[in-house]
Amino acid sequence: MVTTNEYTNLTEDEKTVLGIITELETRDKDPKTNEITISESLKITLTGEGIKKLKMISEKNIDSDSAINSLIAKNLVVYSGVELELTDFGVKIGKIIRSKQMSDWYNHNLLRCAKSKAYAQFCEKVFGKNLYQFNVLDMDQLDCLISSLDLNSNDLVLDLGCGLGKVTEYIQVKTGAKITGIDFAEQLIQWAKDNTEKNNDALEFQVGNMNELFFPPSSFNAIYAIDTLYPTNIDDLVATITKLKELLKPNGQLGIFFAQIIESKEQQHILEPNQTEMAQALKNNNLNFTVIDFTQNARDIWEREISIGNELREMFDKEGNLDLCEDRIADGKRCVFRIDNQLQKRYFYHVSSV
Ligand SMILES: C[S@@+](CC[C@H](N)C(=O)[O-])C[C@H]1O[C@@H](n2cnc3c(N)ncnc32)[C@H](O)[C@@H]1O
Repeated sequence: MVTTNEYTNLTEDEKTVLGIITELETRDKDPKTNEITISESLKITLTGEGIKKLKMISEKNIDSDSAINSLIAKNLVVYSGVELELTDFGVKIGKIIRSKQMSDWYNHNLLRCAKSKAYAQFCEKVFGKNLYQFNVLDMDQLDCLISSLDLNSNDLVLDLGCGLGKVTEYIQVKTGAKITGIDFAEQLIQWAKDNTEKNNDALEFQVGNMNELFFPPSSFNAIYAIDTLYPTNIDDLVATITKLKELLKPNGQLGIFFAQIIESKEQQHILEPNQTEMAQALKNNNLNFTVIDFTQNARDIWEREISIGNELREMFDKEGNLDLCEDRIADGKRCVFRIDNQLQKRYFYHVSSV
């Protein structure tokens, strides 16, 4: 049996497999087949056989069967007879490992984006301005966020998952509000500090985890989240919204860009703006909200990501960043397919007063 402090004693293979199981447990399954969609061509069940099919397992040359067996022996995972499941203890350790894997992934990939000339051009052409976006937010959506929140220099604002901080800086300069950007990826926060306006007291960046928000109650007039409040990033959406409500001053506001994805047409009611996981979480917290549907706008952006990605392919390749470009193209194709098949929507949720 491992304890929370001893998770580092797990082998790298065990950590990788435990992180994968933790992530897969958050994904929607096809209700009939229990399959989880990994990509257009790959669907897997949460079993030893399924895990073996993942690219990360073959790329890292991991013996996933023996990693699974030792995770079972260490009481982190059980096999229900149908699927692998995390034990309560496995959930606890899995969260720590997953959070580390995710922040490592964001640190690595977003920093490469920040250093890439091709990525700067890509953002300029896709979004209308290079703010090192790692989202699906063009200038129209950004204007919508700014005009909905209607911030001024008296407002204290929190940006959840600010990444490289250029969007945060843009909003700060436009509105005059005092904005604190937080992100759990330490190197991104350091980059943001080094590459945004230096002597600007109204712009601050801090390392912070959305699952462990540390600010005192009633700290902010507004909190916004651009493509961050997803199951891969946070443990519990309802609890996170409860926490955000607590951090807001009376009459404070929330602005949230959120994509809802479903796995099969039977779940289609969840795509309705008032039925998404975000809508449910807001309603569970007794929050009234308005919604703007940005699905068509997002589809246009994904189409641009595909064509601009192809146009800049050679430039990305010369920099040694072809995978960054290919990931965006593959993501674009997946999202356009899902939108066209009624499997994905994008919304802006605005709570004007908590
Ligand atoms: C899709 S990117 C969006 C970045 C930025 N908001 C933008 O619009 O360009 C998601 C960001 O959320 C951060 N993130 C993910 N999970 C987090 C967590 N639990 N706590 C804090 N930041 C997190 C990632 O490091 C990443 O920078």
